[in-house]
Amino acid sequence: MVMGLVMAISLCVLLIDESPSQIRGWSARDFHYIKAPDYFWATLPLIHPPNFIRPLPNTNPVSYPNVQFHFTQETRDARIVREERQRAVKEVFTRCWSAYKQHAWLSDELAPVSGNRKNPFGGWAATLVDSLDTLWIMDMRGAEFDEAVTAAATIDFTLTDMGEINVFETNIRYLGGFLAAFDLSGDIRLLRKAVEVGEMLYHAFDTPNHMPVTRWDIHGAMRGEPQVAGTPLLAEIGSFTVEFTRLSQLTGNPKWFDASQRIMDQMAAQQNSTALPGLWPLAVDAGGMVFNSGSTFTLGAMADSAYEYLPKMSALIGGQLDIYQKMYEQAIEAALTHNLFRPMTPTNEDILIAGQVRMRSNGDSVISQLEPQGQHLVCFLGGLVALASKLFNRYDDMTIATKLVDGCVWTYKVFPHGIMPETFLMKPCASNDNCRWDDASWEEEVEAMAEANNEDATPDEIIAQRRLPRGFTAIPDKRYILRPEAIESVFVLYRTTGREDLVESAWDMFQAINRSTATQLANSAVLDITLPSDQMPPPSDSMESFWMGETLKYLYLIFSEPERISLDEFVFNTEAHPLRRLKG
Ligand SMILES: *[C@@H]1O[C@H](CO)[C@@H](O)[C@H](O)[C@H]1NC(C)=O
Ligand SMILES: *[C@@H]1O[C@H](CO)[C@@H](O)[C@H](O)[C@H]1NC(C)=O
Repeated sequence: MVMGLVMAISLCVLLIDESPSQIRGWSARDFHYIKAPDYFWATLPLIHPPNFIRPLPNTNPVSYPNVQFHFTQETRDARIVREERQRAVKEVFTRCWSAYKQHAWLSDELAPVSGNRKNPFGGWAATLVDSLDTLWIMDMRGAEFDEAVTAAATIDFTLTDMGEINVFETNIRYLGGFLAAFDLSGDIRLLRKAVEVGEMLYHAFDTPNHMPVTRWDIHGAMRGEPQVAGTPLLAEIGSFTVEFTRLSQLTGNPKWFDASQRIMDQMAAQQNSTALPGLWPLAVDAGGMVFNSGSTFTLGAMADSAYEYLPKMSALIGGQLDIYQKMYEQAIEAALTHNLFRPMTPTNEDILIAGQVRMRSNGDSVISQLEPQGQHLVCFLGGLVALASKLFNRYDDMTIATKLVDGCVWTYKVFPHGIMPETFLMKPCASNDNCRWDDASWEEEVEAMAEANNEDATPDEIIAQRRLPRGFTAIPDKRYILRPEAIESVFVLYRTTGREDLVESAWDMFQAINRSTATQLANSAVLDITLPSDQMPPPSDSMESFWMGETLKYLYLIFSEPERISLDEFVFNTEAHPLRRLKG
């Protein structure tokens, strides 16, 4: 094995000498040597080997319309401002990166207040892997990137202290992180790590029906114990396609594509027979392959990336399979009708929020009931609708995308620290077309919401105690945990429309976030962003890897020249890792 590795390494040195564009042009067949033949997960026998592996599609990619707005040359003054902002974001990243290196190197996370380490993702250096492509994108490509890749190459995916591995998180953070860093840099060590993660995750699919175990007893799998798929959340089972397909494209081994496609077959077949046709319920039964039983429907938490990956797969594979566009269009049409609502606001904003729907029987019929909840997480949707609007020529959807993104930006603005909370409720307008602010009906709703929670107080008391901005009826979760989704959508809408006010909003959001979350060492999630602006929100000593992997990357890219990670060349996975699109 040692010999094999030495040979492989010397081969890569030869190959990496080429320019990235040449690397890109290589056929996947050239990568056969990256396989380490003795790697544990690659040699562990499967209990249920599939009797057929579907090949990657080999049809020509279709030529999709350009996603990015046609930006004109910027003025010198505009460039100066932009580059100052870009530097400011990089400064915050560099500070966090140094703190991680100093205090938590090779652990999953730095605890940004205490300086301790945390290992909630297998202990495989989640922050390091999630940050690799950010280092590259922020031009920290020399010694800094190389040191990070060298360290990442030492991660051992056959060792962990954790009893249960979250397969979804491992896929989006680790596999996505390695694939994107490889797609950008062409450093073969990164593809080799991606294969190691891929070989490991493939064993989570080793069940009688080939559906994955998403909360995975990794040690049982190592001992070769039989396993069956359970009842995962929709997002956890529906978000493998993008990473698995990219891994198959790069290695020439279709087994990962095949594994993720088996899930998509089930989702496609059952999409029309759910209680809300077009959408899938929040939780599914993977063991029984039932994807159409359940009454709660949302594009937010626990479901989100299953929808996100439909148009993103189209972008990744250049439309080689048209099923993804069909599934997306059916989903978004159902969501438009049932989930999206216009909230009543004091300034009569023309915005949309994506809520949650419960289907319940009412005599012989089934009726849909909207829970007008907004979430920071669901802010990804505006950007996604904008992307799909361009790809699939769905012109009218750009209006929807705009209203969704404007809704997230507005929500940031109306809170005292300039940051949106994790979750909130608002009063929906009677109709999306026509809505007038009305104090009395807002207060009634506040009171009704409180009564539902058995609280006895006047609306004025509740509004004061809960610090509810006008229009909000409850704030169940007051935290901000350094999430990216609002900024992500601002970035995508900016790149697709060129709307300059979005850049100003992003700058305000960045400053607001840094102001409220900076610690002595880095940045921390905070517990209550509804506090008055002169009181610092208390930190919770947590900095998840998506802060450096996603939030700061999207911010940096908003203040970059538009060609940097162009949406016409790359598609982002749900952890903000850009993967190269197949183009016609
Ligand atoms: C971010 O906050 C830290 C701590 O307050 C501060 O030192 C730094 O200058 C801020 N950075 C920017 C770019 O605002
Ligand atoms: C689902 O319903 C839509 C709209 O009625 C239809 O266009 C589509 O073909 C159906 N899909 C399947 C798989 O039956």
